[in-house]
Amino acid sequence: MDQLVITGGKPLKGDITISGAKNAALPILCAGLLSAEPILLSNVPHLADIRTLSKILEGTGCTVTRGEDDIVTVNAANIHSQEAPYELVKTMRASVLVLGPLLARFGKAKVSLPGGCAIGQRPVDQHIKGLQALGAQITVDAGYIYATAPTVNGRARLQGALVRTDMITVTGTENLLMAATLADGETILENAAREPEVTDLAHLLVSMGAKITGIGTDRLVIQGVEALHGAKHAVMPDRIEAGTFLCAVAATGGELTLHNTDPASMGATLDKLRECGLSITLDGTRIHAKMDVLPKAVSFQTREYPGFATDMQAQVMAVNVIAAGVATISEHIFENRFMHVQELCRLGADIAIDGHTAVVRGVKQLKAAPVMATDLRASACLVIAAMAAQGQTTVERIYHLDRGYDRMEVKLRAVGARIERVAA
Ligand code: EPZ
Repeated sequence: MDQLVITGGKPLKGDITISGAKNAALPILCAGLLSAEPILLSNVPHLADIRTLSKILEGTGCTVTRGEDDIVTVNAANIHSQEAPYELVKTMRASVLVLGPLLARFGKAKVSLPGGCAIGQRPVDQHIKGLQALGAQITVDAGYIYATAPTVNGRARLQGALVRTDMITVTGTENLLMAATLADGETILENAAREPEVTDLAHLLVSMGAKITGIGTDRLVIQGVEALHGAKHAVMPDRIEAGTFLCAVAATGGELTLHNTDPASMGATLDKLRECGLSITLDGTRIHAKMDVLPKAVSFQTREYPGFATDMQAQVMAVNVIAAGVATISEHIFENRFMHVQELCRLGADIAIDGHTAVVRGVKQLKAAPVMATDLRASACLVIAAMAAQGQTTVERIYHLDRGYDRMEVKLRAVGARIERVAA
């Protein structure tokens, strides 16, 4: 398993180009299943999760090809299977996003129940509840979800309905939104997630001929259509990758210009990092950030969008561990998203956990030590902390990092970080 070897203490300086958003690209790739005509996607990031999902799509007969021009074409003209097997689904929970499209277009689907992961149990009961509201017959047996659409006038087709999820769920909203585009009649999704990635998916679906209103709000109204056609779409920039690099420069000091960003999707992160002392100037799709003061501890609670993103929690904690003062961080989205805390403490951080809250007391200096990545954003947090620590830190199990960051060490080395990938 690869490791990253990082020697800390060097300020970052230079330019970084942000990749397309993982959490927009994943549902958007699945949306290709909804049409017999191909969708052509630009700005799809080069990530392990994208490769995993492509394999799952190809298992149904769909083709996913990335051309010389970096355009990814998803072609679902010849689907021969509506199954997503455990072997692949267990490595990436977002694979459950094939359920809605397969059921909506073919009237049936067999999708492995996604396992949990380090940050929580991650159930999909709301996905199932919502599809049942659209008329689906669903059983769960031996680790698989078996779903069939109701037969009305001799045709297997989901039926439009009012759906209200018990809590706000991002991929739950995405699964139900995709399913509703081909259902018979009107669907209203209440309590819908408003994450920018949901909005990006909705824009693609509309360009495929879907009829959706309320985009960007917590109430999506969809008029089902008979079929969707092909489309072209540019995946939105990754707001979490951009936020991660802003945390990196906040922790190490220095100056970065991020290119190909979408600052409008990063409001809560930009507010919090400004509060911490990072000077941020926006210029269209560029974000210019400069840190020439000791960071100030910043407290926050993770909430659904437009609140502070849970996917940014670990990275801002990495800044707080060397900031002046005490920060209180509350994690309200996942039940176990403090796995990075113990690893940060190995570097000398002073953090106490009390249930869903971590109290972080800034220390003058972190000291290098071997640490282990436990999940995607925890890995990014440890890279940031290691770049601020004195000495040489080894971060193990960085396959977690590769799931969601496109060649992170290459981008960081280009702005002065002393970071090497070592095959262990
Ligand atoms: C998406 O996960 C993201 N993944 C996550 O990003 C992100 O952390 C999360 O949304 C919250 O913003 C993708 O988009 C691929 P949820 P998702 O359903 O959809 C509970 C990353 O680092 N819940 O919004 O799985 C759930 O347990 C990843 O890029 C149910 O109880 O998250 C959680 O406590 C990590 N039943 C809360 O809701 C359900 O049926 C929010 O989960 C669904 C969710």
